[in-house]
Amino acid sequence: MGTITNVVYLIASVLFILGLKKLSSPKTARTGNMYSLVGMLLAMVITLLDQGILDYTYIIAGMIIGAAIGGIAAKKVEMTDMPQLVALFNGFGGIASTFVAYSEYVNQNGVINGEDIVISLILSLLIGTVTFTGSLIAYAKLQGIMRGAPIVFKGQTVLNAILLVGVVVLGVMFEMESTFQAYLIAIVVIAAILGVTSVIPIGGADMPVVISLLNSYSGLAACATGFVLTNNVLIIAGALVGASGIILTNIMCVAMNRSLANVLFGAVGVEGGTSAAGSGEQKTVTRYTAEDAAMIFDNAESVIIVPGYGLAVAQAQHVLEELANLLEERGIKVRYAINPVAGRMPGHMNVLLAEANVSYEKLVEMDMINDDFADTDVALVIGANDVINPAARYKKNSPLYGMPILDCDKAQRVMIVKRSLSTGFAGEDNELFYDDKTMMMFGDAKGMVTEMVKAVKEL
Ligand code: TAP
Repeated sequence: MGTITNVVYLIASVLFILGLKKLSSPKTARTGNMYSLVGMLLAMVITLLDQGILDYTYIIAGMIIGAAIGGIAAKKVEMTDMPQLVALFNGFGGIASTFVAYSEYVNQNGVINGEDIVISLILSLLIGTVTFTGSLIAYAKLQGIMRGAPIVFKGQTVLNAILLVGVVVLGVMFEMESTFQAYLIAIVVIAAILGVTSVIPIGGADMPVVISLLNSYSGLAACATGFVLTNNVLIIAGALVGASGIILTNIMCVAMNRSLANVLFGAVGVEGGTSAAGSGEQKTVTRYTAEDAAMIFDNAESVIIVPGYGLAVAQAQHVLEELANLLEERGIKVRYAINPVAGRMPGHMNVLLAEANVSYEKLVEMDMINDDFADTDVALVIGANDVINPAARYKKNSPLYGMPILDCDKAQRVMIVKRSLSTGFAGEDNELFYDDKTMMMFGDAKGMVTEMVKAVKEL
């Protein structure tokens, strides 16, 4: 049975790797998900067949309850709330590793052979529990249960360092007396506090990066648990999650032009939603209508659509594609410009537009399209704000400073569809709203784009 198990584990691992590879392109992403799903199913089935760990009644009951909760949550969640759901999944993954590693210790009656297993056990409890409480804080911040702004207090970093040293000391003491369970319980308690204290100073705007990092942690915790159990597939799958999570974290930091250290310790971010009026300056904008926009389209040859978070909130992707098709029928060249951090999760705009069957060829990455704005008649911005804010280029004290943006302001005309003059997630006012070439079109994106469709049809 052992050989069969390992062969199936190997097949599952290969499927995980192929699945990850296929996730690198939107065209193959669904197949990639399917590969990984089959791999996971194989790994689970062979584990359950092979090892008489627990009575099947408990296992089946657990699976039914877990599948029901996961299924309902995944079905009900709004696309814009996906980061919160991922945060919860990471947290549960982390605590599962803690529980499994701890139960293995109990199962062995506290007799642990080998320093490597002791280290793996402690790492599993530490990382798993940090992931759990850290993810709960990330969830609470994104869900608005907690303030999104960084919560900082004096000596926070020192406290975190002391907590970590505490874990190391307890770990050494446990190594010398592994039957003394209280050491492990103390490690779990300290790790729970560490998860909270290390995530509260991070601003709401940086939460998606933190979630990606916690995802990586949950993988590392699973990997450490794999060593405790000597389970190959858990070691491999955990390492894959750990590595891909850290790669994604890095991609997101690069896209925001921030270092990971700056995200984790910079305490950057304010509570979003303040309006320009709050800045004390008197600025005016002119309100334009869908009919005004249609007149401009009537004379346009090229349009670049810039989607942002508001497009997802309004669920205006389908009607936006209808507008794009209408414009193309009039001989206008239409493309979509994608800023990698638009929205609230990696690939958010790609997924949203794919839902509306926009062909991948029309989605152009920021680096590839930025030079084209100068030769474009209209930049049509739908619910985007930070990703087009020119302050990112020069305003050194702005949370956006250094973040690469789409050069919408270089187009001949800029149409911005949003409900008000409110700021985006970073809380930074946007001077482009007040530019002479900008047409502010206030309203919910879905309603406004629907009106534009009507107005273009009437041309
Ligand atoms: P934001 O800067 O957050 O702006 C979105 C705008 O959409 C808001 O100003 C809002 O203005 C508007 N809006 C909201 N609901 C709307 C609706 N129903 N109809 C029309 N407009 C609506 O979004 P962005 O430009 O996509 O930038 C993303 C931000 O998130 C960046 O700061 C980025 O760094 C941050 N972030 C993203 C990620 C990833 S991976 N995507 C990761 C970390 C951080 P009104 O309220 O006036 O309508």
